Amino acid sequence: MTEQKRIGVVTGVTSGILTAVMDQEIKTLALELNGKLYYIGQIGSYVLVPVGKIIVVAMVSEFKKIDFSENGKLSQRCIMELSLVGTVKAGRYERGVSVIPPVDSPVFIAEDADLTAVFSVFRKYGFSVGTLSLFERERAYLDPNKFFGKHLAILGSSGSGKSCTVSSILQKVAVYPDTNIIILDIHNEYSNAFPATSQHLNIAELELPYWLMNLAELQETFIDDRDENSATQLTVFKDLIVSSKKGKNPGLADVLTVDTPVYFDLAEVRAKIQYYDTEKITGLTGSGAKEGPFYGKFTRFLVRLDSRLNDPRYAFMFKPKEFIQSSTFKDLLGKIFGHTQESRITIMDLSGVPFDIVNTIVSLLARLTFDFNFWNASRRDFPILLVFEEAHNYLPSGGVASAARRTVERIAKEGRKYGVSCMIVSQRPAEVSETILSQCNNFVILRLTNPVDQGYVGKLMSDTFSGLIDTLPSLRQGEALIVGEAIPMPLRVQIDFPDPEPSSADIKFFDKWKQSEVRTEIPDVVNRWWHQQRG
Ligand SMILES: Nc1ncnc2c1ncn2[C@@H]1O[C@H](COP(=O)(O)OP(=O)(O)OP(=O)(O)O)[C@@H](O)[C@H]1O
Ligand SMILES: [Mg+2]
Repeated sequence: MTEQKRIGVVTGVTSGILTAVMDQEIKTLALELNGKLYYIGQIGSYVLVPVGKIIVVAMVSEFKKIDFSENGKLSQRCIMELSLVGTVKAGRYERGVSVIPPVDSPVFIAEDADLTAVFSVFRKYGFSVGTLSLFERERAYLDPNKFFGKHLAILGSSGSGKSCTVSSILQKVAVYPDTNIIILDIHNEYSNAFPATSQHLNIAELELPYWLMNLAELQETFIDDRDENSATQLTVFKDLIVSSKKGKNPGLADVLTVDTPVYFDLAEVRAKIQYYDTEKITGLTGSGAKEGPFYGKFTRFLVRLDSRLNDPRYAFMFKPKEFIQSSTFKDLLGKIFGHTQESRITIMDLSGVPFDIVNTIVSLLARLTFDFNFWNASRRDFPILLVFEEAHNYLPSGGVASAARRTVERIAKEGRKYGVSCMIVSQRPAEVSETILSQCNNFVILRLTNPVDQGYVGKLMSDTFSGLIDTLPSLRQGEALIVGEAIPMPLRVQIDFPDPEPSSADIKFFDKWKQSEVRTEIPDVVNRWWHQQRG
């Protein structure tokens, strides 16, 4: 380590963080080394602290001037806070630091050549998502097994580049023959990004029959918890479903439960409930009819049920035409999971689905995926990545846990064992279930301006890196801080621009106001509105 690169000395040590004071002789913060200009104290830049034969790598997380008194003389000195990130031992880089540098250790600025070894730790996998912001020519290499295999969060304010980042990252794996990804696409953005490698399933057209729902999902859809009879309704509803399932599937009668995904006849269940609701029992003495045990207890339930069953927007669930036998279950799974050479990514387009049912559909699709691999003997050879766009909408923190949140929390906790991994995408991380986000091992954090969200994300990362949170509001579009197990150290990365782009591009208001090519036809808007067809 040459004296020319020395910038200061360690003056304080706490676990994970060093304080260092900059050498007094340094008059300018710009330092030229081998023809490149480096800036001392730049947040996110790296320094090296040799301890015996090993070199500790740290990142500048704070830099400030303080009044400093030495031999009774007052002066101002620059103080750096350094987060420890890793160790170079015999030319090899490792994450984590086992030897903490003692006070008085000299601190050196790291130049690009020093860090090449560090950044290329994972080069062997050949998986890179972008270029390092601070080192123009270096690519950011990740360990893709750890990146995709251990739940991943893509966070950032609206317009920071999340959808582009998701597209760009997934495009890099979409080229492989056995890639297996399911995107829950709320705004129908992703088909454009994967023209040759995805299949697009419009949920409103596909049919997702009600009999695939488990009891929790059926309960959420049909039973109002505030109804004083809700407990009775649930018990009776459950028993009737089980008996209808047994009647329609005699071969499985001994093994099936209310949650087994086999056909049952909702109309038949409804008819029985209507009967209970109006049942009158004639007494033995003939002293007039007495009300049955469930008389009037289902009136509100039936109103709710009928309003769902008769709503055309829900027809794809409650009035299936194709999936009206248990034997069709495998056909539906074939559509979702039967990836071919051409479609390694299934895009579940939820844009045409009524908002109040998105929750239930997400739960159903996520649970089908989890259960599919749970029962798949070759699950270790069939790992699936589930992408949840706009996750704050249906995986909220606080409040009563919805079916979707419970399902995804379960996948977050147990999915790894069954080869199901989650990618959580959100512009409001503070509003996403903490149980889910805290299970993520890797974070791609784009520009994040809301202080509540920044604080929340800071808590999710280890204390050592919370200083980096301050850089989040100043990131450029498509620039991210990547933190987690899949990278050698926290990195600021300019994510490669996706090719092609998802259809999420910023609308150029000014240009369009000056001249737009397509005219808006009002009768066409009205027609689509009436028929619930989005363009
Ligand atoms: N890697 C990138 N490099 C350069 N520009 C980018 C990059 N990623 C995104 N952008 C720009 O940012 C715009 C918005 O990106 P994107 O739609 O991905 O944002 P978003 O975070 O998904 O927004 P929203 O929260 O509203 O869905 C894009 O139209 C593009 O111009
Ligand atoms: Mg988006």
